[in-house]
This record gives sequence, C-alpha cells and structure tokens, in this order.
Amino acid sequence: MNSSSTYCRTQSDLLYDQAVGFIPGGVNSPVRAFKSVGGKPVYFQSASGADVIDVDGNHYVDFCLSWGPLILGHSDPAVIAAVTQIAPRGLTYGACHPAEVQMAQTLVAALPGAQMARLVSSGTEAVMTALRLARGATGRPLIVKFEGGYHGHADALLVKAGSGLITHADPGAEASSAGVPKEIAQLTVTLPFADLDAVRNLFALHGSRIAAIIIEPLPANNGLLVQTAEFLHGLRHVTTQHGALLIFDEVISGFRLHYGGYGALVGVQPDLTTLGKIVGGGLPLGAIVGPRRILELLAPVGPVYQAGTLSGNPLSIAAGLATLRTLQDPAVYRRLNHLGAYLEHKLLATGIEWLRGQRQGSVFWPYFAQGPLPTRADTIDPLAVARFNNLYHHVLQAGFYLPPSAYEVLFLSAAHTEAQLDGLVAALVCAARQMT
Ligand SMILES: Cc1ncc(COP(=O)(O)O)c(C=O)c1O
Repeated sequence: MNSSSTYCRTQSDLLYDQAVGFIPGGVNSPVRAFKSVGGKPVYFQSASGADVIDVDGNHYVDFCLSWGPLILGHSDPAVIAAVTQIAPRGLTYGACHPAEVQMAQTLVAALPGAQMARLVSSGTEAVMTALRLARGATGRPLIVKFEGGYHGHADALLVKAGSGLITHADPGAEASSAGVPKEIAQLTVTLPFADLDAVRNLFALHGSRIAAIIIEPLPANNGLLVQTAEFLHGLRHVTTQHGALLIFDEVISGFRLHYGGYGALVGVQPDLTTLGKIVGGGLPLGAIVGPRRILELLAPVGPVYQAGTLSGNPLSIAAGLATLRTLQDPAVYRRLNHLGAYLEHKLLATGIEWLRGQRQGSVFWPYFAQGPLPTRADTIDPLAVARFNNLYHHVLQAGFYLPPSAYEVLFLSAAHTEAQLDGLVAALVCAARQMT
C-alpha cells in the first residue's frame, strides 16, 4: 500500500485521455472501464504476487487478478520459469507439439467422464465451440441459458448476459448487444436461475428443439449467485430426459475451488465442460472437454468445424501446466479457502451489518445489503450496487484494486496475505463510516 494516503494518477489519466482517441472507450474489454464506479481506469506497469504497481508508481493489492486466471498471483515463479524456458524455442508453430498432448491428458484426468479436450485461445471460443457441438450432436437449434449468466461474447450468448453487459448494455434491446440479429437472439431462451419449474415447463413445450442448457454451475458474472445442488441435479435430469446436452461453463469455476470442476463438487456430470482462465495460467487458453462420442464430432474427424491459428500455443500451455502442477498440491486450495474464510469473518466482525458478501472458496462477491443473499439476477438489491459504487474510490485510494463493478466478484490468490485482507477490511470500514 502507498504510505501516503493520497494517490496521484497523473500518468494514468494522461494515458487514458490518449487512449480514448484510439481505442473505443479507451479499453480493450468493457469491464475494464470505470463506467459504473466513475473516474478513469488505472494503468498498470508491473505486478508480482498480489501486488500491482501503476504507471505513477502507486502500489495496490489486486483483488481483480485479471478476472480469475491468476490463482497463484501475478508472476508466479514456477509459471514465469516455464514460460521463459519455452519462449526461446518458438512462440507458436501452428503445428503439433508434445505439451498440447500433456495438457489434454491433464484436463481429461481432472474431469470425471471426460475423454478428450480441444484447446482454443479463449473462454468465448470454448463456449462457441461447445454450442456448435451441441447443435451438431442433436440437430436441434435452441440453446437455453440463464439470466445473468455470462458465457463470453458470441452472438448467441449476448442475451440477458451478465459481466460487463450489466453495466454497459442497452437494457431495452432484446439481445444484450446491438449487432446481434433478432433471428439469432431468438434461438437462445433465457430463464431465471434457481427455478427448476421454469426449466421443466420449457422442456415440456419445446424439449425436442433444445440442443443444450448452458450454465455456469457457480454463476459468478452477475454477482455470485450460488445455486443449490438440487437445481444442478435437476438440470441434469431434464436434459437427459429430453436428449439435450448439459454444458457446464467452468471458465471461472474450473480449478478455482478444487483441482477439477465445480460439477464434481455437487456430484453432477455435464456432457461438455468449457474451461479458460486458470488453465492458461495467465496466457490465452480455453478448452472444451467431454466424451469422445461428442468431441469427435469436431473437424477433422467429424462435421462440426472449429479452428484457430494460435490454438494450443506452447506459451499458454506452459503457463497453464505450471499452474495446474502447483494446484495439484491440496495445501494450495486449503490456503485459498482459508483466505476466503478469513476475509468473510473479518467483514462480519466489523459490526457494520451490510458490509458482507457471498463467498465460495477464494471467490468473494461484496454484496453490501442486508437480507437474503441473492440466487437470481433480479433479486439483487440496488442499494448494494449504490453502496459499492460509493465505496469504490475510497478503497482504491487506500491501495486496493477491486474489479470496477458491483456485479463482479473479487478473486483471491495463494499469494494474498492475511495482512492484506485486514487492510482491505479496514479500508472498507473507513469508507463505510465516511458514507454514513
Ligand atoms: C463463465 C465465463 N464463460 C466465458 C467467458 C469468456 O471468456 P474469455 O473472456 O476468455 O473469452 C467468461 C469470461 O469472463 C466467463 O466468466
């Protein structure tokens, strides 16, 4: 943390003013903009462990961590060593290499029921491919998703989507983004989370036209809307009954709470799992994982086309494998879970009743309101959002970088310390007192 209490961001502000002239909104992904919390984004120049330093030399404890991949923290020594060892041997071949086999084997071994993996370069690509596979496997057109679930920015999924779309989209539009034709949006049916009857009713009416349900089994893009195991089991049952696929989008939750998918924690085995973030260890990597009978529908074996120039590139795989190797030690997850519990308990102990949140392992959603923790997008109290937005800059000025939206979760890493969490709690308390 900066020893002086005032953070000056002259260089950051200058860069942003230049950026808006050359990059739409000054950012290369809308979630990085400070639209909901106000002000200008911070420009970082370096990072290590849980710390980031901006271009003005200010230090922050990072609770955004590139939105989830950095479960070991920034510049983890084993990850950096793996990447720097491999880089001089060629950045990309556009051809086969041994480590991609190792990565596919590693992912298959970690996910029950999986037999094959196709590696891509982002979570969005993984999900696009999973949906195409589902349609190819079933010959059906419709996809079911849940309101507030975010699955990347493919056309079919920008329908009542969470993440940056909550903050930035035109709420009047049928799709969550302009440029998505009505005809495409209409092939995606959205339902509320936590409502199995709605799912059953939909399948009763349209089951023969539904290719798949896609869900984040731990929905973490519209707050952290934890679903019950019964709901997830119910989805498994309905999809099996109607011959549709169940896709678990584990781009965030994969390897976040334990070594494997969230599905295994609740005892539900999906037909396909999409991965990203952690499996790339901070470099671009995504994966579609599932049984041979579905994965071998992909070209060049089957008729479902998918390709990528940089797919399975050696650097991303080196970073991902190094990360997964470290995560094989259960002590790492014990530490992550301890840190999550520590933050939760420290917040509860402040005596400010609304200073609290929803947590699963090392994922924490600051939900600054009283009453039940929401399980659906439409039950989030607007007061929680207003409070977060009001607190944001106080906390930033105290040296804590949070994702700049009330709907986003905080990520802890194995590199965080209890002292840093104490610091965050103290900054939140201080900011909360200034508000009242
Ligand atoms: C659950 C989920 N699926 C898919 C994506 C898209 O991944 P990417 O941003 O790598 O394209 C995200 C991104 O945050 C995500 O959280």
